[in-house]
Amino acid sequence: MSKIMLAFDTSGEVIALGIGAYTGEPISARGPRPFEIEFSETIPSPRATNVRLLTEIDEALAGTDYDKGDIAAIVAGRGPGSFTGVRIGIATAKGLATALEVPFFTVGTLDAIAADIARAGVAGWTIIASDAMRQEIYPALINIAEGGIERIGGDVVGKPDAIMENLIAELSARNVDQVNLVGTGLLKHSEAITGALADAKISVELLDEALSYPSGAGIIDAYSAAEDFQTGLAGDVLPVYTRLSDAEENERAKSALAATAGADDAYTSTGDTETPEAPGASLEPDVDQAQTFSVRALNPSDITEMVLLEDATAHPIWTAGAYASEFEVLGRLWIGAFVGSRLAGVAGFGDLAGEIHILNIAVAPDMRRQGIGTRLLEEGMRRCARFYAHKFTLEVRASNMAAIELYKAHGFLEVGLRTNYYSDNGEDALIMWGSSMSDEEAAVLWGSKARVARTEEGARILAIETSCDETAAAVIENSTVITDVIASQVDFHARFGGVVPEIASRKHIEAIVGTVETALEQAKRPLSSLDAIAVTDRPGLVGALVVGLAFAKGLAYGASKPLYGINHMEGHLFANVLDDPTIEPPFVALLVSGGHTSLVASPSDGVYETLGETLDDAAGEAFDKVAKALGLPYPGGPIIAKLADQGNPAAITFPRAMMHSKDYMFSFSGLKTAVITYIRAEEKAGRELNLPDIAASFQQAVIDVQVAKAVSAVKEVGATRFLLGGGVAANTALREALVSAMTANGIKVSVPPLRLCGDNAAMIAAAASARMHKTEPLALTADATSHAPLGMMGNQ
Ligand code: KG4
Ligand code: ZN
Repeated sequence: MSKIMLAFDTSGEVIALGIGAYTGEPISARGPRPFEIEFSETIPSPRATNVRLLTEIDEALAGTDYDKGDIAAIVAGRGPGSFTGVRIGIATAKGLATALEVPFFTVGTLDAIAADIARAGVAGWTIIASDAMRQEIYPALINIAEGGIERIGGDVVGKPDAIMENLIAELSARNVDQVNLVGTGLLKHSEAITGALADAKISVELLDEALSYPSGAGIIDAYSAAEDFQTGLAGDVLPVYTRLSDAEENERAKSALAATAGADDAYTSTGDTETPEAPGASLEPDVDQAQTFSVRALNPSDITEMVLLEDATAHPIWTAGAYASEFEVLGRLWIGAFVGSRLAGVAGFGDLAGEIHILNIAVAPDMRRQGIGTRLLEEGMRRCARFYAHKFTLEVRASNMAAIELYKAHGFLEVGLRTNYYSDNGEDALIMWGSSMSDEEAAVLWGSKARVARTEEGARILAIETSCDETAAAVIENSTVITDVIASQVDFHARFGGVVPEIASRKHIEAIVGTVETALEQAKRPLSSLDAIAVTDRPGLVGALVVGLAFAKGLAYGASKPLYGINHMEGHLFANVLDDPTIEPPFVALLVSGGHTSLVASPSDGVYETLGETLDDAAGEAFDKVAKALGLPYPGGPIIAKLADQGNPAAITFPRAMMHSKDYMFSFSGLKTAVITYIRAEEKAGRELNLPDIAASFQQAVIDVQVAKAVSAVKEVGATRFLLGGGVAANTALREALVSAMTANGIKVSVPPLRLCGDNAAMIAAAASARMHKTEPLALTADATSHAPLGMMGNQ
């Protein structure tokens, strides 16, 4: 049976799904290929994409007598559309492609719709206007002719009036007086759109509303016709965003930049400034500030220039054909340095699996000694980090002193000589190797925090955590942490003074593949060897959870592994168990994080009774808000704790709210207000703030209430064991206060190891190893939940 391409798009309120059987040579990296459409549907699915996508895929495969193993490539719509909708499709595809080890490509959703319109037999100029919410539309202006579909311009977003003005200018310039019109944007903006066309005396033919959405066939057609270059690596794929997150938009609106760019705002292109910079994952132009040249990834349209440059070097080797085949192979990175529009230097990196072979570094003879070669080498080595590779090998002509010096200056060593290596003049090749960082640095950068030798028994679990602002993956075996990888986004949120949900979701989708692959690679445990996969599915930021969950579902489905949904807060509790496997109920636990503050009693395994919670702010939130009021960066907890170390906790008396409320409820917003009021009063009186004293006094107020309530809860329940968990558990003063109070009352107390206090996936894996024997794996229809008490299983 032939191999297939699986196609889907979830950027609108539908699931577009297709299966194309490949009829020619094997599916390679990219390019037009003949497909026989075996399945194509557009399934209405408002707000249920995550719930239905994999079930629909599973049924489509079964219905066409194909198996997951027949999937040779995946293509998904990259938007524009609903940000979360697009991310669900892309996250699922990333999981599937990673598990099946097949390439993953994207097509523009509007291009897929255009292909469907052409398929329906429509010809001529056509406007697609998709609803972009917020009174805006995503337009596409296309001309369907014999030779194919021509599209004017790329993905943009804007108010209907501004968009129409622009489209009409394009049409008028081409003397077009008749267009076809379709799209979900017509539901809300029909008047603005058709009115503008009528004013311009352009007659309109309304197309069937069903053509507002893509179908599976349209996605596959759009893929076949696409000429853009894509690596096919799941880790490289990003959705199309035509807007920044609101927080960034506001920030930009306030900046001087907006004043100069203001005129364009209504009609913004999806250029590089729109997409947030992905560390190492973007292929966008990267203008070097200090130099007069810019560096970007090369693509097949650069081949002519690449050959021109190569031919100008002393020993040209690379031909147009050789370069063309480079762009057909997966796992190659070619970057170029441009002076103006002229290609001044080229560098190629290959075999991007663990170790990188530097294929070529060439600089045009008249462009040398400007640092171009250095920049290309450094930039290439930096970009290879997205393949989690930091070791490099190369061969260089023994006579090429300039190149040898360049490599030596970057720490490369001569490790051997290949005699008569070059066929053109029989010259020797020097073999060199180097690395962009030490193994230790790589481990830190990529987050490896622990590595333990293999144990033979016990479940081997991969866990994924994306509930807030850390993308994390871990492998545990027999309750021992093998790898624990955390890609933190904290820096991206810090300038906004807190976690921006839209930014969190965007960063998760960028980092998820690399994070999971690193965890598996460093653990030296392939996906196929796992017993189970676990994922945080509640509580948390729903848009963030859904990325991890959709990815995990795709991964588990593709790899045929059971997937367990884990409560994030139960994960925080199990951070203790990783340290001390003998811990078991009954116990009382205090869970304190950025989003939660609760006291729970656990009479038996997996059963939790919430004794009390915060009525307003969570404990971590209070730390963050007080830090903000003091002008300190996010996250506030660690900084306040550090300041508090040097301050006097009795210096200022802040309120201990609910201390004597005789229940287990907490309230921190009054304390926060009291601190802010104190700060304002001090400032007004012209006194300099004593930050350490304020921090210490505030922290002590938080600690006093928590310790008092925790002790009385333990006593009332009659527990002999107490556990602390959550991000705030990293607070040394709180840990010490709880340990001494509990010990004084004869209670055995556990606090999580410091490195497992913050969000991580090892704790999720630990919780899963306890849950997997007692609960059912998640169904393909599982969804994420933002609020969920402990003890409530997502799938029941
Ligand atoms: O569990 P976590 O990493 O994320 C959530 O699930 O919310 O907790 C993060 C919270 C933040 O509010 C942070 O300020 C706080 O934990 N935190 C601390 C300390 N370290 C982190 N709070 C007090 N003292 C610390 N040393
Ligand atoms: Zn947490």
